[in-house]
Amino acid sequence: MRTVRIFDSPAQVAGAVADRLGELLAANPRPVITFPTGSTMLPVYDEIVSRSKDGRLDLRGVQVIQLDEYAGVDDQTAASFRAWLHEHLLDPAGITEFHTLPAHDPTPPALAAYEDGIRARGGVDLAILGIGGNGHIAFNEPGSPADSRTRVVDLDRRTRQANERYWTNADAFVPTRAVTQGIGTILEARSILLIATGAEKADILHEALNGPVTEHVPASLIRSHPHAEVLADAAAGRHHDVEDDRISA
Ligand code: F6R
Repeated sequence: MRTVRIFDSPAQVAGAVADRLGELLAANPRPVITFPTGSTMLPVYDEIVSRSKDGRLDLRGVQVIQLDEYAGVDDQTAASFRAWLHEHLLDPAGITEFHTLPAHDPTPPALAAYEDGIRARGGVDLAILGIGGNGHIAFNEPGSPADSRTRVVDLDRRTRQANERYWTNADAFVPTRAVTQGIGTILEARSILLIATGAEKADILHEALNGPVTEHVPASLIRSHPHAEVLADAAAGRHHDVEDDRISA
């Protein structure tokens, strides 16, 4: 069943994601999870970290699978998604298992080995996703095939602009290419949780949920998944009709 849940505030969305993690961990202390980066996730990770610090969540067994990364960056690049996730989630929550993308040298064998690594862990239990202003999920920009696998992609102009703020002078420029799990890869997760907050996501979220299921709006493709759920705050969900709470593809 695909469900949309609208909350009053981003803080309540964060609480709901943390609750969901708690349920997952109660059933399986070693879940395999993908976590996105980005501003939507900051209050979510703050809540998760706070629950891990006061003992309500024990995340030490979580196996994290990286979702996306800039191409060509190494571990030392401060604006890399790896560094961001370490800072905001992994290190403060005591998570040590992190299966990373071969972003520095994304050759076809390295990308295939990355996907083998997901399978070797039994597949992804929960894929947490954000949504870009153009409807992208991970770095799957509009037009990405529904059956795409982990690969190198060119970044859309809007996506590069949205990410400029993370690149300081020292890092020089926003890369033009990225490595991302494909849509087909993401859809193999056993369950999907897409998070959207803020008024600037309202139109694209509405399109993803109520427009056609199409590769032009990659987030719409999660509607073909049997266990996808959308959590939004009132601002992002302002076009959502409660009658649509159980959305159908
Ligand atoms: C990043 C990722 C992206 C973001 C999306 C929203 O790892 O997967 O798809 O989720 O660009 O970013 P924010 O939250 O910054 O609006």
